Amino acid sequence: MQRLLFRAGVYPNFRPLPGHVEVGDLGRTQPFSTQFGYDRGGPVDRYYIENFLQRESAWVKGRVLEIGDNSYTLRFGGDRLTKSDVLHVHSNNPMATLVGDLSDAPQIPDNTFDCIILTQTLHLIYNLKGALQTCERILKPGGVLLLTVPGISHIDHDEWNDNWLWSFTAASLRRLLSEVFPTDHLALQTHGNVFIATAFLYGMGVSEVTREQLDFTDPHYQVIITAKATKPA
Ligand SMILES: C[S@@+](CC[C@H](N)C(=O)[O-])C[C@H]1O[C@@H](n2cnc3c(N)ncnc32)[C@H](O)[C@@H]1O
Repeated sequence: MQRLLFRAGVYPNFRPLPGHVEVGDLGRTQPFSTQFGYDRGGPVDRYYIENFLQRESAWVKGRVLEIGDNSYTLRFGGDRLTKSDVLHVHSNNPMATLVGDLSDAPQIPDNTFDCIILTQTLHLIYNLKGALQTCERILKPGGVLLLTVPGISHIDHDEWNDNWLWSFTAASLRRLLSEVFPTDHLALQTHGNVFIATAFLYGMGVSEVTREQLDFTDPHYQVIITAKATKPA
Protein backbone atom coordinates (compact mmCIF):
# COMPACT_ATOMS: atom_id res chain seq x y z
CA MET A 1 0.00 0.00 0.00
CA GLN A 2 2.78 2.40 0.99
CA ARG A 3 4.58 1.67 -2.28
CA LEU A 4 1.46 2.42 -4.34
CA LEU A 5 0.89 5.72 -2.54
CA PHE A 6 4.54 6.65 -3.05
CA ARG A 7 4.36 5.94 -6.76
CA ALA A 8 1.19 7.97 -6.97
CA GLY A 9 3.11 10.98 -5.60
CA VAL A 10 1.75 10.75 -2.04
CA TYR A 11 4.91 10.96 0.02
CA PRO A 12 5.07 9.79 3.63
CA ASN A 13 5.56 12.35 6.40
CA PHE A 14 8.77 10.65 7.44
CA ARG A 15 11.37 11.78 4.87
CA PRO A 16 14.77 11.56 6.58
CA LEU A 17 17.58 13.72 5.16
CA PRO A 18 21.27 12.88 4.66
CA GLY A 19 22.86 12.53 8.08
CA HIS A 20 19.73 11.21 9.78
CA VAL A 21 21.43 7.84 9.94
CA GLU A 22 24.99 8.01 11.27
CA VAL A 23 26.93 6.11 8.65
CA GLY A 24 30.32 6.77 10.24
CA ASP A 25 33.18 5.07 8.40
CA LEU A 26 30.76 3.79 5.74
CA GLY A 27 30.03 7.32 4.50
CA ARG A 28 32.37 6.95 1.56
CA THR A 29 32.00 6.08 -2.09
CA GLN A 30 35.15 3.96 -2.34
CA PRO A 31 35.50 0.59 -0.59
CA PHE A 32 38.12 -0.17 2.07
CA SER A 33 39.44 -2.98 -0.12
CA THR A 34 39.08 -3.73 -3.82
CA GLN A 35 40.35 -7.28 -3.17
CA PHE A 36 37.26 -8.75 -1.46
CA GLY A 37 39.04 -8.23 1.90
CA TYR A 38 41.97 -10.55 1.06
CA ASP A 39 44.18 -7.68 2.30
CA ARG A 40 42.13 -7.25 5.51
CA GLY A 41 42.13 -10.67 7.13
CA GLY A 42 40.35 -12.56 4.33
CA PRO A 43 37.02 -12.30 2.49
CA VAL A 44 33.82 -12.76 4.48
CA ASP A 45 32.29 -14.87 1.68
CA ARG A 46 35.02 -17.52 2.14
CA TYR A 47 33.71 -18.08 5.67
CA TYR A 48 30.47 -19.42 4.17
CA ILE A 49 32.19 -21.28 1.31
CA GLU A 50 34.66 -23.06 3.58
CA ASN A 51 32.10 -23.86 6.28
CA PHE A 52 29.91 -25.41 3.58
CA LEU A 53 32.80 -27.53 2.29
CA GLN A 54 33.67 -28.53 5.86
CA ARG A 55 30.07 -29.61 6.51
CA GLU A 56 29.99 -31.62 3.28
CA SER A 57 33.58 -32.88 3.51
CA ALA A 58 32.50 -36.54 3.76
CA TRP A 59 31.65 -36.22 0.04
CA VAL A 60 35.12 -34.98 -0.91
CA LYS A 61 36.48 -38.43 -1.62
CA GLY A 62 37.70 -40.72 -4.39
CA ARG A 63 38.46 -38.87 -7.62
CA VAL A 64 37.76 -35.17 -7.16
CA LEU A 65 37.70 -32.32 -9.69
CA GLU A 66 38.26 -28.73 -8.63
CA ILE A 67 38.56 -25.55 -10.69
CA GLY A 68 41.76 -23.51 -10.94
CA ASP A 69 43.63 -25.22 -8.08
CA ASN A 70 43.15 -28.13 -5.71
CA SER A 71 43.53 -26.44 -2.34
CA TYR A 72 39.99 -27.27 -1.17
CA THR A 73 40.27 -30.85 -2.47
CA LEU A 74 43.38 -31.43 -0.38
CA ARG A 75 42.09 -29.53 2.66
CA PHE A 76 38.67 -31.18 2.83
CA GLY A 77 39.39 -34.53 1.17
CA GLY A 78 42.49 -35.59 3.11
CA ASP A 79 43.11 -39.33 3.01
CA ARG A 80 39.71 -40.02 1.41
CA LEU A 81 41.14 -38.94 -1.97
CA THR A 82 42.32 -41.33 -4.65
CA LYS A 83 43.00 -38.70 -7.35
CA SER A 84 42.82 -34.94 -7.56
CA ASP A 85 42.20 -33.17 -10.87
CA VAL A 86 42.21 -29.46 -11.66
CA LEU A 87 40.36 -27.90 -14.60
CA HIS A 88 41.42 -24.51 -15.89
CA VAL A 89 39.87 -22.64 -18.77
CA HIS A 90 43.28 -21.57 -20.20
CA SER A 91 46.41 -23.66 -20.73
CA ASN A 92 48.55 -21.20 -18.69
CA ASN A 93 47.90 -22.84 -15.31
CA PRO A 94 50.61 -25.37 -14.36
CA MET A 95 48.28 -26.96 -11.76
CA ALA A 96 45.74 -27.90 -14.43
CA THR A 97 45.39 -31.58 -15.28
CA LEU A 98 42.51 -30.69 -17.62
CA VAL A 99 42.09 -27.61 -19.79
CA GLY A 100 38.82 -26.39 -21.23
CA ASP A 101 35.52 -24.64 -20.94
CA LEU A 102 33.22 -26.44 -18.52
CA SER A 103 30.22 -25.63 -20.71
CA ASP A 104 31.76 -27.48 -23.66
CA ALA A 105 34.16 -30.17 -22.49
CA PRO A 106 33.77 -33.32 -24.63
CA GLN A 107 37.41 -34.19 -23.78
CA ILE A 108 36.36 -35.09 -20.21
CA PRO A 109 34.83 -38.58 -20.19
CA ASP A 110 31.43 -39.41 -18.72
CA ASN A 111 31.10 -40.84 -15.18
CA THR A 112 34.62 -39.88 -14.09
CA PHE A 113 34.41 -38.04 -10.74
CA ASP A 114 33.08 -38.88 -7.30
CA CYS A 115 32.97 -35.19 -6.42
CA ILE A 116 33.25 -31.84 -8.19
CA ILE A 117 34.14 -28.76 -6.14
CA LEU A 118 32.83 -25.84 -8.20
CA THR A 119 33.37 -22.76 -6.05
CA GLN A 120 32.98 -19.19 -7.29
CA THR A 121 33.23 -20.11 -10.97
CA LEU A 122 29.73 -20.48 -12.46
CA HIS A 123 29.24 -16.69 -12.58
CA LEU A 124 32.12 -16.52 -15.12
CA ILE A 125 30.54 -18.95 -17.58
CA TYR A 126 28.00 -17.65 -20.08
CA ASN A 127 26.38 -21.01 -20.81
CA LEU A 128 25.32 -21.88 -17.27
CA LYS A 129 23.16 -24.82 -18.22
CA GLY A 130 25.89 -26.27 -20.43
CA ALA A 131 28.36 -26.07 -17.52
CA LEU A 132 25.95 -27.82 -15.15
CA GLN A 133 25.16 -30.46 -17.79
CA THR A 134 28.89 -31.18 -18.08
CA CYS A 135 29.12 -31.53 -14.29
CA GLU A 136 26.24 -33.98 -14.25
CA ARG A 137 27.70 -35.95 -17.19
CA ILE A 138 31.21 -36.28 -15.77
CA LEU A 139 30.07 -37.19 -12.24
CA LYS A 140 29.86 -40.89 -11.51
CA PRO A 141 26.37 -42.14 -10.57
CA GLY A 142 25.99 -41.20 -6.90
CA GLY A 143 28.66 -38.49 -7.31
CA VAL A 144 28.23 -35.07 -5.74
CA LEU A 145 28.59 -31.52 -7.03
CA LEU A 146 29.52 -29.04 -4.29
CA LEU A 147 28.71 -25.64 -5.74
CA THR A 148 28.97 -22.08 -4.46
CA VAL A 149 28.01 -18.90 -6.34
CA PRO A 150 28.03 -15.19 -5.55
CA GLY A 151 24.83 -13.34 -4.78
CA ILE A 152 25.53 -9.82 -3.50
CA SER A 153 29.12 -8.98 -4.44
CA HIS A 154 31.33 -6.40 -5.99
CA ILE A 155 32.92 -7.28 -9.32
CA ASP A 156 36.52 -8.48 -9.46
CA HIS A 157 39.08 -5.80 -10.30
CA ASP A 158 41.59 -8.29 -11.66
CA GLU A 159 41.74 -11.28 -13.96
CA TRP A 160 38.06 -12.22 -14.08
CA ASN A 161 36.65 -8.70 -14.31
CA ASP A 162 35.55 -8.91 -17.96
CA ASN A 163 34.11 -12.39 -17.49
CA TRP A 164 32.00 -11.63 -14.43
CA LEU A 165 28.70 -12.35 -16.15
CA TRP A 166 26.18 -13.30 -13.49
CA SER A 167 25.07 -12.98 -9.91
CA PHE A 168 22.64 -15.49 -8.49
CA THR A 169 19.74 -15.91 -6.12
CA ALA A 170 18.74 -19.18 -4.50
CA ALA A 171 15.66 -19.14 -6.76
CA SER A 172 17.62 -18.76 -10.00
CA LEU A 173 20.19 -21.36 -8.96
CA ARG A 174 17.49 -23.83 -7.94
CA ARG A 175 15.77 -23.46 -11.32
CA LEU A 176 19.04 -23.92 -13.18
CA LEU A 177 20.06 -26.96 -11.17
CA SER A 178 16.64 -28.54 -11.41
CA GLU A 179 16.92 -28.53 -15.21
CA VAL A 180 19.88 -30.88 -14.83
CA PHE A 181 19.52 -32.76 -11.51
CA PRO A 182 16.34 -34.22 -9.94
CA THR A 183 14.92 -31.68 -7.48
CA ASP A 184 14.95 -34.21 -4.65
CA HIS A 185 18.73 -34.53 -5.19
CA LEU A 186 19.32 -30.83 -4.48
CA ALA A 187 20.05 -29.00 -1.22
CA LEU A 188 20.53 -25.22 -1.36
CA GLN A 189 21.26 -22.70 1.37
CA THR A 190 21.71 -18.94 1.44
CA HIS A 191 24.23 -17.16 3.62
CA GLY A 192 24.49 -13.57 4.79
CA ASN A 193 22.42 -10.66 6.00
CA VAL A 194 22.29 -6.91 5.45
CA PHE A 195 25.30 -6.22 7.66
CA ILE A 196 27.52 -8.90 6.13
CA ALA A 197 26.45 -7.90 2.62
CA THR A 198 27.42 -4.31 3.41
CA ALA A 199 30.72 -5.33 5.03
CA PHE A 200 31.54 -7.50 2.00
CA LEU A 201 30.71 -4.74 -0.50
CA TYR A 202 32.97 -2.33 1.39
CA GLY A 203 35.76 -4.93 1.37
CA MET A 204 35.88 -5.42 5.13
CA GLY A 205 37.79 -8.52 6.17
CA VAL A 206 36.40 -11.49 8.03
CA SER A 207 38.39 -10.51 11.13
CA GLU A 208 36.42 -7.24 11.29
CA VAL A 209 33.06 -8.91 11.81
CA THR A 210 31.85 -11.25 14.53
CA ARG A 211 30.86 -14.89 14.27
CA GLU A 212 27.39 -13.92 15.47
CA GLN A 213 27.04 -11.40 12.63
CA LEU A 214 28.27 -13.96 10.11
CA ASP A 215 25.96 -16.71 11.29
CA PHE A 216 22.73 -14.70 11.17
CA THR A 217 20.94 -15.67 7.94
CA ASP A 218 18.47 -13.31 6.32
CA PRO A 219 17.37 -14.86 2.99
CA HIS A 220 16.60 -11.38 1.62
CA TYR A 221 20.36 -10.67 1.58
CA GLN A 222 22.11 -13.54 -0.15
CA VAL A 223 25.88 -13.04 -0.15
CA ILE A 224 26.65 -16.64 -1.03
CA ILE A 225 24.42 -19.45 -2.21
CA THR A 226 25.68 -22.99 -1.64
CA ALA A 227 24.29 -26.09 -3.28
CA LYS A 228 24.86 -29.80 -3.10
CA ALA A 229 23.60 -31.70 -6.15
CA THR A 230 23.79 -35.49 -6.36
CA LYS A 231 23.71 -37.49 -9.57
CA PRO A 232 21.24 -40.35 -9.15
CA ALA A 233 22.98 -43.65 -8.42
C1 LIG B 1 37.77 -16.98 -9.22
S1 LIG B 1 38.45 -18.53 -9.68
C2 LIG B 1 37.44 -19.63 -8.74
C3 LIG B 1 37.98 -21.00 -8.50
C4 LIG B 1 38.76 -21.17 -7.20
N1 LIG B 1 39.07 -22.56 -6.99
C5 LIG B 1 38.03 -20.55 -6.02
O1 LIG B 1 37.33 -21.23 -5.26
O2 LIG B 1 38.19 -19.36 -5.83
C6 LIG B 1 37.87 -18.57 -11.28
C7 LIG B 1 38.08 -19.89 -12.01
O3 LIG B 1 37.09 -19.96 -13.02
C8 LIG B 1 37.57 -20.80 -14.01
N2 LIG B 1 36.79 -20.57 -15.22
C9 LIG B 1 36.43 -19.42 -15.79
N3 LIG B 1 35.72 -19.63 -16.90
C10 LIG B 1 35.61 -20.97 -17.02
C11 LIG B 1 35.00 -21.83 -17.96
N4 LIG B 1 34.31 -21.35 -19.02
N5 LIG B 1 35.13 -23.16 -17.79
C12 LIG B 1 35.80 -23.67 -16.73
N6 LIG B 1 36.39 -22.90 -15.80
C13 LIG B 1 36.31 -21.58 -15.95
C14 LIG B 1 39.02 -20.46 -14.15
O4 LIG B 1 39.72 -21.60 -14.57
C15 LIG B 1 39.40 -20.05 -12.72
O5 LIG B 1 40.17 -21.03 -12.12
